[in-house]
Amino acid sequence: MTEAKKIMRALAGETQDVPPIWMMRQAGRYLPEYRATREKAGDFLSLCYNPELAAEVTLQPIRRFGFDAAILFADILLVPQALGLDLWFVTGEGPRLSTATTAADVAKLKPVEAIHDTLSPVYETVSILSKELPKDVTLIGFAGAPWTVATYMIAGRGTPDQGPAHALKDSDRATFEALLARVTEATIVYLSAQIDAGAEVVKIFDSWAGSLTGADFEAYAVAPAREITAALKARYPHVPVIGFPRGAGEAYAGFAKTTGVDCVALDQGVDPAWAAAHVQTDGCVQGNLAPEHMVTGGEALVAETQAIVRAFSGGPHIFNLGHGITPDADPDNVALMIETVRSFR
Ligand code: CP3
Repeated sequence: MTEAKKIMRALAGETQDVPPIWMMRQAGRYLPEYRATREKAGDFLSLCYNPELAAEVTLQPIRRFGFDAAILFADILLVPQALGLDLWFVTGEGPRLSTATTAADVAKLKPVEAIHDTLSPVYETVSILSKELPKDVTLIGFAGAPWTVATYMIAGRGTPDQGPAHALKDSDRATFEALLARVTEATIVYLSAQIDAGAEVVKIFDSWAGSLTGADFEAYAVAPAREITAALKARYPHVPVIGFPRGAGEAYAGFAKTTGVDCVALDQGVDPAWAAAHVQTDGCVQGNLAPEHMVTGGEALVAETQAIVRAFSGGPHIFNLGHGITPDADPDNVALMIETVRSFR
């Protein structure tokens, strides 16, 4: 029964004594079983495009920890690849892409309907998971937000300050906006296909929203999230959307109302008491323990976890980290976090 799942209840606005819990990057290198499966696949991208193995790594943290949600194993950069850019990962450094920085580059991108040619294995992963997940576990699909995805398409890699994307925005706004529009359209098509395959919730990761300010935040973080959410709600009114404008700071307030998302994911830079008063008032919030606690553990982990549960106890809350767990984390600290959340009164 979908209504009984803890995650779905939180997303519908229900306050629960014990919040449901999952963790960003819960399938990842801090788990020995993930590293073994990744080796079997060959490399990270081969793992993303192998439905059996991608479903296996998605299930690993569910088996080990009993999280309330599973997140599809894939990557936000598969969409640029499906639009025709080259994508590869350099071990120890991160992603590399061929770039799209001119009107001609944007015109050369594949039409959005063509993304299925590349991404159909991802839908197959979703469909395997929707059959294999325990009945009380919610399946979350995801995509990157247009701004965050575009920062990689413009720079060809991750950047500390998204400098190249800001430079294109300020020097050739028409090309920048055409690129964002194409990614927005592709994201709607991609998330729709994930929902058709069995995703029950979708999350939009805007990891670099924090570098957009003022009118740019409105135009390139809020507006695309609103457009994607509205398009999905028109087709799938009962599928909740989680927005994650990481680093938005005070702009977290009002984000759910202006975009229409059902839940706002908070990074660890946000004070939980402030967020309870200014964000949770509009609906469910998710977050926001600093991922460093998964490395350091101990009393500080317990105290901080309890403080977050307490601060959000008056409204709908999904417990999570403020960002992804890192490869140097200790799985025992994850177990301690879950135990702390579930035993706290
Ligand atoms: O959360 C999950 O468990 C689901 C899978 C998932 C991955 N990436 C797997 C992954 C999700 C939801 C993402 C999202 C993602 N990918 C984001 C947005 C969230 C965020 O972290 O801010 C971004 C910016 C990316 C792009 C990306 N993918 C980068 C910059 C890197 C390299 C940095 C790193 O952590 O290695 C990746 C690689 C990546 N994506 C890994 C995983 C498990 C590590 C790859 C490996 O196994 O070597």
